Amino acid sequence: MKNQLLSMKEKAENALKNAKNLQDLEDIRVGLLGKKGELTAILRGMGGLSAEERPIIGQLANEVRSFIEEKIEAQKSVLLAAERSEKLKAETLDVTMGGRTPIIGKTHPLTTVLDEVKNIFVGMGFSIAEGPEVEYDYYNFEALNIPKDHPARDTQDTFYINDNVVLRSQTSSVQIRVMEEQKPPIRVIAPGRVYRSDAVDATHSPVFHQIEGLVVDKGITMGDLKGTLETFMKTLYGNDAVLRFRPHHFPFTEPSAEVDVSCFVCGGKGCRVCKGEGFIELLGAGMVHPKVLERCGIDTSVYSGFAFGLGLERIVMRRMNIDDMRHLYENDLRFLNQF
Ligand code: PHE
Repeated sequence: MKNQLLSMKEKAENALKNAKNLQDLEDIRVGLLGKKGELTAILRGMGGLSAEERPIIGQLANEVRSFIEEKIEAQKSVLLAAERSEKLKAETLDVTMGGRTPIIGKTHPLTTVLDEVKNIFVGMGFSIAEGPEVEYDYYNFEALNIPKDHPARDTQDTFYINDNVVLRSQTSSVQIRVMEEQKPPIRVIAPGRVYRSDAVDATHSPVFHQIEGLVVDKGITMGDLKGTLETFMKTLYGNDAVLRFRPHHFPFTEPSAEVDVSCFVCGGKGCRVCKGEGFIELLGAGMVHPKVLERCGIDTSVYSGFAFGLGLERIVMRRMNIDDMRHLYENDLRFLNQF
């Protein structure tokens, strides 16, 4: 038995040397030390030993078992380490490889300037209102004092979905929506896209943007309108900007005015940009017509208001020295990357 045990020990040592992976190790362990393994088989012969031999063989068997167990553990760490370094090698990243630079976008000039305009008005206590681009004829025309046969419809010819639904030709429609929903005091601007049946050229587009302003409160006068617009223009164009009000007509304001700003190129002397005028037309404005207020349920013996509407493209073009409106819609990166 002693010899059997010693030869088993030797056999184990050789087998372990050749073990290539953890599965080999486990197979060896089961084959030698498992319940049905070699050691168990050898020890089955213990019964035939004398009383003196038994403890000696027993001790040897224990030594052989611990020896094999230790060897297996040692071999296991060696194999695990090898496995790990193998894995690391396979998963190595080459951090020196050149990458791809993501193209970082930026805001469109229309968005940049609109944000600036919003900030100025929010700073004066206005909030931002919105309305639909596909609008009822009622909000775009009727409620603004422009009945079906009114000549003002000619200058704002738009796209009709049907007799009662249009693509809005002006953001003034939002005035009505706001007044139907809110009680005065009202102080809002409503920026957004508007549509007109215009042919495309350097200064016209069938789709463009307006920013509507509406203030309704007790005792609002033309003076408030002038002060608000002047503060806005001076913030946008600098303290030298001078405003000029010219009498005009809009069906939904009375009195109405067109408002010009002194030319930023020549400062008012007259040049090519302002076509010798010294001023550049920027917006329409006026005191909200009493009929419009009343239609929205606002008591005109208590409240009055002013409204204005500016063209965003015009401001952007002046601001950024862009001479053709079409650039703003073509999304040519060679153009957009300049801003
Ligand atoms: N909506 C008018 C236009 O498009 C501008 C305007 C707005 C005039 C508000 C007066 C008051 O021409």
